[in-house]
Amino acid sequence: MKLKVAKEAAKLIKDGMVVGLGSGSTAAMFIRELGSRIEEEELTVFGIPTSFESKMLALQYGIPLVSLDEYDVDIAIDGADEVEKETLFLIKGGGGCHTMEKIVDYNAKEFVVIVDESKIKNKLSYPIPVEVLPQAYRVVMKKLKDMGGEPIIRLAERKRGPVITDNGNMIIDVSMEIDDAVSLESEINNIPGVVENGIFTKVDKVLVATKKGIKTLK
Ligand code: 5RP
Repeated sequence: MKLKVAKEAAKLIKDGMVVGLGSGSTAAMFIRELGSRIEEEELTVFGIPTSFESKMLALQYGIPLVSLDEYDVDIAIDGADEVEKETLFLIKGGGGCHTMEKIVDYNAKEFVVIVDESKIKNKLSYPIPVEVLPQAYRVVMKKLKDMGGEPIIRLAERKRGPVITDNGNMIIDVSMEIDDAVSLESEINNIPGVVENGIFTKVDKVLVATKKGIKTLK
């Protein structure tokens, strides 16, 4: 399913485009597919990665990289942890890369999300990833609790310490009722010490891999 939607997304890329390269397993398949198209069709395409992981994959699959310092993004292709069916609001950051993802995705002329149908929900309920400066984790958790959330520090797999992001920060995952995603996205970002949260409310299009084929939501 993930591969099917990744291939479909790769078809959206045209010669000369600057492409935001998302993170996660679905985006990784897209990066591989794009690399194959660049090689086979001799396309001139540049990538702007959203994580260390996507940078390494782009290098591996022969996608030349540029940065936001010099280029605008024509199209960004990225995965998601959850997509709300009616609004197309997302939760991202399961991989802890949502800060750079949001910078690249929100600044793209077109932001396209690629998911399999298991990610489509009637209402967002996935814990919201919040990237915080390490010095601020305790006070940010307190504020999130005051807002009605249940925050936990994301721990590294062997649980010897916290997950550290590409930017040297920590991730707090907060479970909370999301009634107004647009307001909550700003409200969480207003807490001093928060770098960025994983609520995404500006999405152009979602490609969904279903058993019957690819469906487009917009
Ligand atoms: C990483 C992300 C990913 O896009 C999200 O976690 C989905 O990943 P996958 O395609 O592996 O399910 O937001 O920060």
